[in-house]
Amino acid sequence: MLFNAVSSHARAGDIAQLVGLRHKHFIITLKEGAKFETHRGVLLHDELIGKAWGTQVFSHMGAPFFLLQPSLANLLNDLPRTTQILYPKDIGYILVTMGVGPGKKVIEAGSGSGSMTIALSYAVGADGHIVSYEQKPDNQNLARKNLERVGLASRVDFKLRDIQNGFDETDADAFFLDLPNPWDYIPQVRAALKPGAFFCSLLPTFNQVEKLLIALRRNNFAFIDVCELLLRFYKPEPARIRPTDRMVAHTGFLIFARRIEPSDDNRGRELIEEIGAGYIVEEETKTK
Ligand SMILES: C[S@@+](CC[C@H](N)C(=O)[O-])C[C@H]1O[C@@H](n2cnc3c(N)ncnc32)[C@H](O)[C@@H]1O
Repeated sequence: MLFNAVSSHARAGDIAQLVGLRHKHFIITLKEGAKFETHRGVLLHDELIGKAWGTQVFSHMGAPFFLLQPSLANLLNDLPRTTQILYPKDIGYILVTMGVGPGKKVIEAGSGSGSMTIALSYAVGADGHIVSYEQKPDNQNLARKNLERVGLASRVDFKLRDIQNGFDETDADAFFLDLPNPWDYIPQVRAALKPGAFFCSLLPTFNQVEKLLIALRRNNFAFIDVCELLLRFYKPEPARIRPTDRMVAHTGFLIFARRIEPSDDNRGRELIEEIGAGYIVEEETKTK
């Protein structure tokens, strides 16, 4: 069952979020007869099942919690992980920039813990499809488990492979590449994408971004954008609205590009140069 299937009340099988004092929160799957134990006491699932979402509930020690249907962001922030993962801050912008929506076919590598896989499979809907490549069996198993838990695994093909060996697909609408050396795989990525299709990668350092930019330009990707998203939260107190004391300073740089098919016709040259394709080849020729 999809993690946020439309319902006004909690049902057995639903994923629920319990939020207690000092923002302590827990995500659980409701099961008849099960117990949820915290250091603030025990809550019986049977007493949660049937309650309206948003209701306040109490442990056997009287500790208060709110019972909520988790959002996609709640789930991803809380995802069991063994790798770095993508966070909601970056995910939202990546999805809209690459046009990931109903019916699209998207490839990603690596699967990691499946955070981006969850977001992609949610966005493409029941008619879309995700192919997720990963080289480590343990990571693939965790990603698959995370997808199964939120009811999205049927939209994903998990493939165990070092992507050095290329991809089986040739017609993807978008590609998300999240591993430390994406520049080594750009010819393979290009072959997996439709002409005009979207590419994105997230990298933590400038040094990596530089190598990726060179590889993209050498392989006829253009419309390249490099950006970083900063998200700042504010204290929502009407009498003293101000930034919260802490902020995540850096997750990564986002690099977007599109696969293009340049023509040999000289009339197209100025536009090709304007959009950055072929630049590196030209610069290298000039310095010889
Ligand atoms: C940072 S994690 C990806 C996290 C993922 N995007 C998420 O949101 O959970 C990078 C993953 O790429 C995998 N990887 C690295 N090199 C690879 C390769 N050549 N082929 C396939 N997978 C690779 C790693 O094993 C790791 O699981």
